[in-house]
Amino acid sequence: MITFDEKNRMFKLDTKNTTYSIAVVDEEGFAGHVYYGRRISDGALHTLRINENPFVPSVNNRDRSSFLDSFPTEFAGNNVGDYREGAIAIKDVNGGEAVSFFYEGYEITDKKPILPGLPSSFAGKGRTETLILRLKDDAAGLKAELYYTLFADIDIITRSVSIINCGDAPVKLTRIMSLCLDMEAEDYELMTLHGSWARERAIDVRPIGYGRTNVGSARGETSHQEHPFLGLVSPRCAQDNGEVYGFNFIYSGNFLAQVEKNQFDSLRVTMGINPEYFEFEIKPGENFYAPEAVMTYSDRGLSAMTQNFHDFFREHIIRSPYKDKPRPVLINNWEATYFDFNTDKLLDIAREAAKSGIEMLVMDDGWFGHRNDDNTSLGDWFVNESKINGGLRHLVDEVNALGLKFGIWLEPEMISKDSEAYKAHPDYCIKVKGRTPAPSRNQYVMDLSRPEVVDFVYDQVKKVLSSANIEYVKWDMNRQLCDLGSIYLDSDHQGELSHRYVLAVYEMQERLLSDFPNLLLENCSGGGARFDGGMLYYSPQIWCSDDTDAVERLMIQEGTALVYPVSAMGAHVSDCPNHTVGRVTPFETRGRVALCGTFGYELDITKISEEDRAAIPGQIEKYHKYNSLISTGDYYRLASYSKNRFYDAYMIVSKDKNEAIMTFVQVLGRPNHHSRLLKLSGLDPEKEYMVEFENDEKSNVRAHGDTLMNAGLLVRNMWGDFASTLVYIHSV
Ligand code: DGJ
Repeated sequence: MITFDEKNRMFKLDTKNTTYSIAVVDEEGFAGHVYYGRRISDGALHTLRINENPFVPSVNNRDRSSFLDSFPTEFAGNNVGDYREGAIAIKDVNGGEAVSFFYEGYEITDKKPILPGLPSSFAGKGRTETLILRLKDDAAGLKAELYYTLFADIDIITRSVSIINCGDAPVKLTRIMSLCLDMEAEDYELMTLHGSWARERAIDVRPIGYGRTNVGSARGETSHQEHPFLGLVSPRCAQDNGEVYGFNFIYSGNFLAQVEKNQFDSLRVTMGINPEYFEFEIKPGENFYAPEAVMTYSDRGLSAMTQNFHDFFREHIIRSPYKDKPRPVLINNWEATYFDFNTDKLLDIAREAAKSGIEMLVMDDGWFGHRNDDNTSLGDWFVNESKINGGLRHLVDEVNALGLKFGIWLEPEMISKDSEAYKAHPDYCIKVKGRTPAPSRNQYVMDLSRPEVVDFVYDQVKKVLSSANIEYVKWDMNRQLCDLGSIYLDSDHQGELSHRYVLAVYEMQERLLSDFPNLLLENCSGGGARFDGGMLYYSPQIWCSDDTDAVERLMIQEGTALVYPVSAMGAHVSDCPNHTVGRVTPFETRGRVALCGTFGYELDITKISEEDRAAIPGQIEKYHKYNSLISTGDYYRLASYSKNRFYDAYMIVSKDKNEAIMTFVQVLGRPNHHSRLLKLSGLDPEKEYMVEFENDEKSNVRAHGDTLMNAGLLVRNMWGDFASTLVYIHSV
């Protein structure tokens, strides 16, 4: 609920368990941040520091600069005396950079504002309430609208900003943070997700020192390396207790997520488009919309934060018709064949796959132009008939005749130097005038700031998808951006390229979904470099990582599931020795690890052992049995291999607490070791449950939820490394 206390000029935003409050102070109308945390009865205005000696605000502006340098400002300006990093910075026509906003008015609405051209959360089956806080800077001729939308039941508040140029000259935005939050530093620690190709989203926790600490990307995409997530966690915050603030950014390009600890031990958290390689002109009468950021707070540990994020993404970001439908179990030929395939090979795979109960064949990279390796043909989105002999339609029809759906791989944002597209349009790629751009994976990036380039690519994509019964697309992006320059933009607007690029990707995917409304889209970027809330608005699933090794995946999926629902994590069973790390793990463990994801196969089913092939129908049966529970339930982490280096365990509990599934992987066997005692989570303390171990009936128990959560459950020591079990728990 959002209330405005007129007398005290204070806004109070209450979700089920949290309160966020803002006050307007002084005659000049400073908008100050008062409180964010556990739900409280009052707005806590008395805690707002407006009279700290010797620096106080005053109507005659005396000492304003030192006041601003410590005041918890709701939307901090720039170059006006607040020396912490602001939420906005500008350059006016005279080169002036000062900007500072004051209160103008507000609106409270139950209509969720949408952000034109950007992913926007939506009410879905729930109800939202939004505060629009209106601010102005008369000197700069700018107004700001700050949006705060409450998803009250799941303790989520989203924020975004629109900047309106009300003056008569253009203004350049050089920094715009969607979220700016000042709070006491206390002894919170910083939690972030970092990584690299094939080992994305590892969890890192560190103390917060004085000054600015940030993570970000200036690579043109969210990146493998750092992630648009920040957690502020109380010391020893655990899964089921302790305080945590979680922040996430719904954007797929350059981002900055920062905490700044200042001289008075307060923190400023900011999250937005990375100011590096960013500026954007706002013409008189125009708006700039900043992407949405998400905040949640829990004093019940990390699990509650995770569950709030999962519910938010599942119900208020993912729009696909596949949102609540089981995704077809697919087999992808990438690790099976790489570029070495043709119609016959694909049909051999499809035939064998059909026998095992697999439901879709996905033809990966290498079917177009004359692409037989990664040197050529991106941009030539027409089928290579010497490989796909008989043509695409023929292949798809044959696959359909076997009872399988058909999916295809595309990389629409890229162009190879060796391609017909490049020969015809060498100027279609991103490059700085007069410089040769650096290739990466032998490819260049299409200059999507140019509408004719977007049309050129999209028209080809549409033609391919219209030519046969294609029901799934894997949209890949295999390099990051550099040599940022566009011949479309004049010298004064080159800084707009990175953001325009992201907007164009969104526009293309929006067009794709409106032209093919039943398409199942899976985003991908060299594995998991663009796994973010922005892409989830377009695709209900994203390829999580190129690393398909079951053990590496435990860590990648743990970090990913800290924020994103498992129903969105592309996860496949692949062949061994694993192509990335050379590890050999049991087929059944690979299956169990992929089960808490979208589930599929990435191997040559005609070549794997008879024993492994025979296990596939059983794995698929399990996928169908548990998928609805896995994709809609609440996620609990019980043990973390990335921390303890020996074993991993997590469970998913249905919303009604009638059933749950627990995955346990013993990564390393140990000699002379007792069974592990695992305390389960999320069950109904009063319900009685049957606990059934897969392939280990002797371990089955019948017990109440409170017993399983407090006394725990014994999981027997297993023989060998990489052993695992799946435990199904249901009320009786
Ligand atoms: C990167 C993806 O993550 C892989 O699965 C595969 O599609 C390759 N690209 C193809 O080039």
